[in-house]
Amino acid sequence: FQPKRLAGKRVLITAGPTFEAIDPVRGITNLSSGKMGFAIARAAREAGAQVTLVAGPVSLATPRGVTRIDVRSARDMMAATQPEAEGADVFIATAAVADWRPATASEHKIKKDGSGQAPALAFTENPDILATVAQSARAKSGALFCVGFAAESQDLAANAQAKRLRKGVPLLVGNIGPATFGAEDNALLVIDDQGSFEMPRAPKLQLARALVAQIANHL
Ligand code: C5P
Repeated sequence: FQPKRLAGKRVLITAGPTFEAIDPVRGITNLSSGKMGFAIARAAREAGAQVTLVAGPVSLATPRGVTRIDVRSARDMMAATQPEAEGADVFIATAAVADWRPATASEHKIKKDGSGQAPALAFTENPDILATVAQSARAKSGALFCVGFAAESQDLAANAQAKRLRKGVPLLVGNIGPATFGAEDNALLVIDDQGSFEMPRAPKLQLARALVAQIANHL
């Protein structure tokens, strides 16, 4: 038996990668599987929360009792997330949002023109969903508790701590390398204003339950 520590709470989660179109048949994306975010959605639901999951393109089943909104690009994810954040108690940003998108998506498939020249892609920065949602919650002195994730290839502790402050969120969770994309387990570094501690390598659902308990402690 697990106590329903999030009963009556609304939890909003982003998960998976985003897909940024180059033309109608191509785009850039990343290796996020969405598994950690989906596991957190399941754990939050088990803890009694009303859960909305905004998912990028992933092939995962929706956890039982969770409301899912499918999106493709970072801008789609932002548009779906912002209204859902109104009235939410917790926002957990696990999505691996593309930092940049092609500046223009070609209306038609880009063809080889026989010149041997590859097309040049120009990029534009995507909106930062977590930073934007956290900032507007602060501006409304709302009680939205925001949690960020970090996947770093080096200096996880320092980079994750800096990210927590830069994004303006009370809790930042680092994926402890090596890259856990698609894996069934993970290890986490949990950072709040009191310091940090590690959750040792374990199945993602087990870590998700521990993280949900940790978040409940903060509410
Ligand atoms: O800056 P970086 O991408 O490393 O930050 C990671 C954290 O910020 C994750 O929680 C991710 O979901 C969130 N994020 C976001 N929107 C972006 C980029 C990152 O919500 N455009």
